[in-house]
Amino acid sequence: MNNFVLNQPTTIYFGNDSVANIGKEASEYSKKALIVYGSDRIEKNGVLDQAKKYLKESQVEVSTLSGVDPNPRITSVRKGIEICRKQNIGVLLPIGGGSVIDCAKAIAAGFYCDGDAWDLFAGTATIEKALPLGCVLTLAATGTEMNGNTVISNLETKQKIGAGSPLLRPKFSILDPEYTITVPAYHTAAGTFDIISHVFEQYFDAAKTYLLDRLSEAVVKTCVEFGPIAMKDPANIEARTNLMWAGTLALNGLLNTGRGGDWAVHPIEHELSAYYDITHGVGLAILTPAWMEYVLDGDNAYKFTNLGRGVFGLELNDDSVESAKKTIDALRDFIQSIGMPLSLKEVGIGQGNLEIMASNVTGGGKSTVGNFKSLEAKDVLAIYKKCLN
Ligand code: NZQ
Ligand code: ZN
Repeated sequence: MNNFVLNQPTTIYFGNDSVANIGKEASEYSKKALIVYGSDRIEKNGVLDQAKKYLKESQVEVSTLSGVDPNPRITSVRKGIEICRKQNIGVLLPIGGGSVIDCAKAIAAGFYCDGDAWDLFAGTATIEKALPLGCVLTLAATGTEMNGNTVISNLETKQKIGAGSPLLRPKFSILDPEYTITVPAYHTAAGTFDIISHVFEQYFDAAKTYLLDRLSEAVVKTCVEFGPIAMKDPANIEARTNLMWAGTLALNGLLNTGRGGDWAVHPIEHELSAYYDITHGVGLAILTPAWMEYVLDGDNAYKFTNLGRGVFGLELNDDSVESAKKTIDALRDFIQSIGMPLSLKEVGIGQGNLEIMASNVTGGGKSTVGNFKSLEAKDVLAIYKKCLN
């Protein structure tokens, strides 16, 4: 296990009616807030009104930016920055899933950017300062509610790029599992797999991290247990509660302590979302078993067999490649059981852009991706091709 520093400044309000804290919290930063959201869903179901009521009680004046799309666009970010500058906004309050929260984070950083906000993602500018931000999460998936990352899409350039800074960590996040009972089965499944993938990206690492491995397996096991329950019985609050906290714990820095992780599958997926606008968790479900088969060898098979025992309860007598493959089979069965696709064909994607996408993932073929096993463009292309049918 490597040395590490863990600094986690986000205050979490977890549970029923925790939105009651939004006014008091927001007013510590500013009396002028911008609420950011997606569709009119939160207008219809009363969440927006509830938040506004508590903000009013704390004398916080509210403006709104709606219409943020899944795979949030840089165009929404630009719109938000303009509103913030014109209206002298001092705190951002996204209400929604990862897309809405990421959009608000990009607005927070872009507000202080001299040039275009896309420069922060294209790598031609760095995040120096950001407006404070507090979230109301409505979908268990990304972990953005307790981390400093944001992922934004640019439809013009066909790019989906992440940026990160401790400055983008939410000051507070409101996690009420009741808000997630309306998440449809499809997005529940995609979110569940996103959580699982976040754990895998950190779990597959060569460092000896016994405690973290067991914690990681517990988070994945929780998803495997409660994802299907939440899909069948959307109002099952025990399932929604476990999924929500699993999503946060999966990517708030805890599971990354003392190790660097792999982080190959996410950038490989982001190209799929960038070119085909597919749901992030769906892309991950397609790619993950293929990535596993591609990187598996005799030296690292023990990671897979431990996962098989710890998550799927497999009785594996050794740590051979053959036993490791049984874990991958179990994962495939789980993916199928939650109605997620296992091939690109199932989501209508063919050979078309795979070569350029593999090149993009590896900086035009000049660099590699992944630490558990370092992958060149040809490897990434091979993984995409394994997923075709
Ligand atoms: O438009 P709205 O009304 O918000 O509807 C959303 C959207 O259509 C809907 N939804 C959200 N909460 C709901 C609900 N529907 C019914 N009831 C509710 N309570 O679900 C749809 C998907 O929402 P979205 O926010 O796109 O999903 P998710 O939370 O999975 O976020 C995905 C985005 O986050 C990025 C992904 O790449 C993708 O762009 N990620 C961000 C990360 C981060 N910042 O740390 C890490 C992740 O790996 C990921 O890359
Ligand atoms: Zn993810």
